[in-house]
Amino acid sequence: MASKQASSVPDFLYGTAWKEDRTPALVELALRTGFRGIDTANQRRHYFESGVGQGLAAAYRAGVAARAELFLQTKFTYQPGQDHRLPYDPLAPLSAQVAQSLAGSLQNLGTEYVDSYILHGPSSGYGWSDADSEVWEAMRKERDAGRTRYLGVSNVSLRHLQQMVAAHDEAPTFVQNRCFARLGWDRDVRLFCAARSVIYQGFSLLTANVEVLRLPLIAELAARARATPAQIVFSFARAAGILPITGTTNAQHMQQDLASSGLVLSPEAVQAIESLAG
Ligand SMILES: NC(=O)c1ccc[n+]([C@@H]2O[C@H](COP(=O)([O-])OP(=O)(O)OC[C@H]3O[C@@H](n4cnc5c(N)ncnc54)[C@H](OP(=O)(O)O)[C@@H]3O)[C@@H](O)[C@H]2O)c1
Repeated sequence: MASKQASSVPDFLYGTAWKEDRTPALVELALRTGFRGIDTANQRRHYFESGVGQGLAAAYRAGVAARAELFLQTKFTYQPGQDHRLPYDPLAPLSAQVAQSLAGSLQNLGTEYVDSYILHGPSSGYGWSDADSEVWEAMRKERDAGRTRYLGVSNVSLRHLQQMVAAHDEAPTFVQNRCFARLGWDRDVRLFCAARSVIYQGFSLLTANVEVLRLPLIAELAARARATPAQIVFSFARAAGILPITGTTNAQHMQQDLASSGLVLSPEAVQAIESLAG
């Protein structure tokens, strides 16, 4: 069993999707601003992983941070989630695709190991499949070989997680999901995670909840704390046990996002935001 004491996980992750040619400079800027956790994927359709590696290399050269101080996370993506720029031989068995994809990630990122390796999404929306089991077992082998410290799954339902744990007698160290306020901020999955010391990573906290950012409740809390609505949402996320991910491309937003760690909401405020959807 993997240790659930996932040590040295930063309290904010910087997401690198959709940045294309700006990826190297934005990764370097994020590290200079103080981020120490980077989320990417070997999925050229949405991520420029070798550009992330270029940004890391620039930051190492400039003495901004050393590899050991960083938390690097990447993902295995099934072929339907990819475009023609595949990181593996699509005719190879899934277990070989996992090994090829992670080998490519290590090369792209210029590292011998990642801190977290995530199954980008199960093969079916309905439940944990045999394909997912084969991929997960291959991911476990990569962990046993030291090429990743921890494993995780993304875009999962409670049903996926329950079936996965039953099939493998192991919970992931991380779950990474899109977090909608109208779904109680993914409450059922978060409760599953909390009960098993699984670290829940939330993405689209701002973009999936544009209407929440405009609510008078959030505006009042922001005014009282001299903070922005986005900072209130990130601060709430942390209080609710969510490790937030931001993909901002803006230097000031990077600073504000990190500064939200110092913003403490009252238990009443956390409860009010938690129960926006009932
Ligand atoms: N596992 C998956 O399937 C999956 C799916 C989607 C995303 N992700 C990960 O999550 C990361 C984040 O994605 P996301 O969907 O949350 O959206 P995002 O890419 O972080 O977009 C955030 C948007 O909010 C804006 N924004 C305004 N104020 C902000 C503030 N104070 N801080 C941050 N952003 C602010 C940003 O604009 P500015 O740029 O102007 O700040 C940007 O347009 C991705 O890069 C990726 O690593 C994973």
